[in-house]
Amino acid sequence: MKELKIFGIVAAFTLILYWGVEPFAHSQMHKHVEGHNLVYDGKADIEEASKDKKEAKKKFWAEVKEIAKLKGDPVAGEATYAMCAGCHMEGAANMGGVTPPSLDHAGAIYDKNFLIALIKNPAMATNVDHKYKDTSTHPMGSISSMVSAPQDIANVVAYLKAKKAGEVTPKEAYIEACGRCHANRYGKLTQLGEIPKTKSNIKTGQDIEKMKYDQKVAEEQAALADYLGKLPPDLSIIYRARSEHFLHTFVENPQSQLAGTAMPRTGLDHEGMEKVMAYLEETGDPSKPARDALGPYVLIFFVIFTILAYLWKKSQWKDLH
Ligand code: HEC
Ligand code: HEC
Repeated sequence: MKELKIFGIVAAFTLILYWGVEPFAHSQMHKHVEGHNLVYDGKADIEEASKDKKEAKKKFWAEVKEIAKLKGDPVAGEATYAMCAGCHMEGAANMGGVTPPSLDHAGAIYDKNFLIALIKNPAMATNVDHKYKDTSTHPMGSISSMVSAPQDIANVVAYLKAKKAGEVTPKEAYIEACGRCHANRYGKLTQLGEIPKTKSNIKTGQDIEKMKYDQKVAEEQAALADYLGKLPPDLSIIYRARSEHFLHTFVENPQSQLAGTAMPRTGLDHEGMEKVMAYLEETGDPSKPARDALGPYVLIFFVIFTILAYLWKKSQWKDLH
């Protein structure tokens, strides 16, 4: 009877801590940010903007909305896309501090409205315009004068949306959307992509190819740190360090969680976000597949063990009863 009372008290305390104190402390320490369900209509940007920027943002997003209504022609868009490919090509070099990402899966992982906004004005679309006196000096800024007619913008976006190159893997989505800035050690990725396999020289024990690669990575990281004010953190274990809600709302609009941050909004749609999160979960917890596979065996072991323990108990007590 006494044990039962003690158990009751312990259980009550645990439940109070779990449902009462912890959520309260959490809500005090982390401000709750509502997501916008990956709708990129500029609403949050206009709300957060300082007085002198509000009107410009309102006008910008209203124009984006108008372009979104146009019917894009993917065939005409392919010709215009040549402008994009001038920067976004295989093996592109760093420009203005960052290397343009591959756009192989852009149509699948980015939202349509976001893409329109991005071509109109990359700094505004990604909500880092506060960094620029003149937003055309953004590394992708010159596109706004190269492709400026609303119909041309609608066409390129229609082309990207139509181009979907097969199923996107979580890793591909991550590399396209985040990889140019964030390394992922557990995923064996640097800002330059997959870490190549190299071999040491048998006689000297030195791996010159690796040294050369490391130097290139160091140069890329230095350029990124100049561009962004700091080197973006490695994201190997971010999935375990932060809640999924934080990651979602942060990636949707970094300014909402960290005002003034240099991280741009990435404009992921639902598919893109899901894939990126899947990759972060995979690298954040590399032993999960092995653990999941082990699970059923552990359960079977416990069942057998329980039966044996029960039989043993019965045989031990049978003379006493
Ligand atoms: C153009 C570069 C750039 C891209 C692309 C980028 N980030 Fe970032 N990210 C940054 C920078 C810079 C910071 C540091 C922010 C700060 O401290 O102000 C950051 C910070 C973060 C943080 C916060 C870490 C913490 O705990 O504070 C997370 C999470 C993150 N990025 C996730 C992502 C994901 C996921 C993607 C891809 C969908 C992505 N980032 C794409 C530049 C980038
Ligand atoms: C002058 C070179 C240049 C041109 C032209 C250019 N881009 Fe970019 N683009 C960049 C750079 C540099 C970045 C990376 C910017 C950053 O991370 O801050 C980028 C980033 C992007 C991103 C990723 C955005 C994100 O939020 O993750 C997309 C999508 C994109 N460009 C699409 C396009 C399309 C579509 C076109 C053609 C209509 C185009 N770009 C033309 C240089 C260019």
